[in-house]
Amino acid sequence: MSKLRKDEVVRIPLEECEIPKQWYNIIADMPNKPGPYYSPMTGKIAEPEEMMAIFPKELLMQEMTLDRWIDIPGEVRTMYRQWRPSPLYRARSLEKVLGTPARIYYKYEGTNATGSHKLNTSLAQAFYNRKEGIKRLATETGAGQWGSALSLACNHFGLECTVYMVRVSYQQKPYRRSFIQTFGAEIFPSPSTRTMAGKKILERDPGSTGSLGIAISEAVEDAATHDDTNYSLGSVLNHVCLHQTVIGQECKKQLEKIDEYPDVVIACCGGGSNFAGIAFPFLRDKFSGKNVRAVAVEPTACPTLTKGRFAYDYGDAVQMGPIAKMYTLGHDFVPAGIHAGGLRYHGDSPIVSQLYHDGLIEAVAYAQKPVFDAAVTFARAEGIIPAPESSHAVKGAVDEALKAKEAGDERVILFNLSGHGYFDMAAYDYYFSGDMVDYEYPEKILEESMKNLPDIK
Ligand SMILES: Cc1ncc(COP(=O)(O)O)c(C=O)c1O
Repeated sequence: MSKLRKDEVVRIPLEECEIPKQWYNIIADMPNKPGPYYSPMTGKIAEPEEMMAIFPKELLMQEMTLDRWIDIPGEVRTMYRQWRPSPLYRARSLEKVLGTPARIYYKYEGTNATGSHKLNTSLAQAFYNRKEGIKRLATETGAGQWGSALSLACNHFGLECTVYMVRVSYQQKPYRRSFIQTFGAEIFPSPSTRTMAGKKILERDPGSTGSLGIAISEAVEDAATHDDTNYSLGSVLNHVCLHQTVIGQECKKQLEKIDEYPDVVIACCGGGSNFAGIAFPFLRDKFSGKNVRAVAVEPTACPTLTKGRFAYDYGDAVQMGPIAKMYTLGHDFVPAGIHAGGLRYHGDSPIVSQLYHDGLIEAVAYAQKPVFDAAVTFARAEGIIPAPESSHAVKGAVDEALKAKEAGDERVILFNLSGHGYFDMAAYDYYFSGDMVDYEYPEKILEESMKNLPDIK
């Protein structure tokens, strides 16, 4: 292959054989490790046996290990080959529209059948569960991307799948429902009457729009009350962040081919997994002295890192899942029904939270209208319609490029386009109608929610 030139290249290719063979475990290199999980039952550090009621052994080992590299199983890597390596693009048209001297690159994780980065971990999770004899996985989904990814993975590995979909998204995204059903999964709007957790929420608030925290409670209860069923989470947990690191590893190889290295790496942040995926391999370099920034972008309606507290909290609304040390807005906080359903989570990955607490990464929050302005600018320039979640990263990158323009510097910006928005056109309709509203997080709520944190120091 002739040498790629950074002043000409638009799509930076990688060979199939260059798909990473291992996942990168950042915990091995972190100066301060994330805190241990606590049990919601005993209030003490969670015993592995307790967690094994809902997770397979191998994923729990990945959750706790200090090994730096974990081999990707052959069957999972074979599935990765259907769409990986994913493309890295130079956003030449966007640069021109913005009139910036910055060089903008984006990794596009929307090229697989389900349309987002979530398939990187759903395949791994279904694989390990099947290996340990599990018959069914229960899960939550916000925007529907995770439910889609898990239903496809379960179908591939011969598992049944039950999805609890946050009610507001269930109503906003009917085609995500059909997508999930196409792969053989059953799907229910959450809160539902199938679980005690759902019934409890509906008694309190019959019109509940749902939240990821509530849907997680339902899925955890479903798994905990059925021997043949495990729970599967699409973000937050260490092993989920781990599986996503194929993204950043590929980016590094792609950028090396054109002698580039980013000054700043940007991704949207819901539970933190796509941010982890692109940023962690670069943070490894930062730990050994490289000058690279990583910025997590969240919505003002659910500003976990920028406004939340770093404390132990429940991962779900009804206090059934493990208690984690993380930035949180409180487990009973129900965010406004913004269109980026996948960013409506009250907490954040314990690893991402620890890194933020230690000042190793940055965070910024945007309201949804400016996010959609940036998404439309990006779509018109680059020809890809981003998912509302990913559009937060687009907005972060656009702002970074405009700052570079103001400063007259040629900074190199890399962002993760975590998914496409082709099932989210109702959100775009709403934006074009002029009816879209912005939500600020009411600070008063934080004080109230903080009163309900578990008593763990
Ligand atoms: C396209 C897309 N990007 C990002 C996210 C946010 O999740 P995470 O922070 O785990 O990457 C979601 C969640 O549903 C999503 O669907």
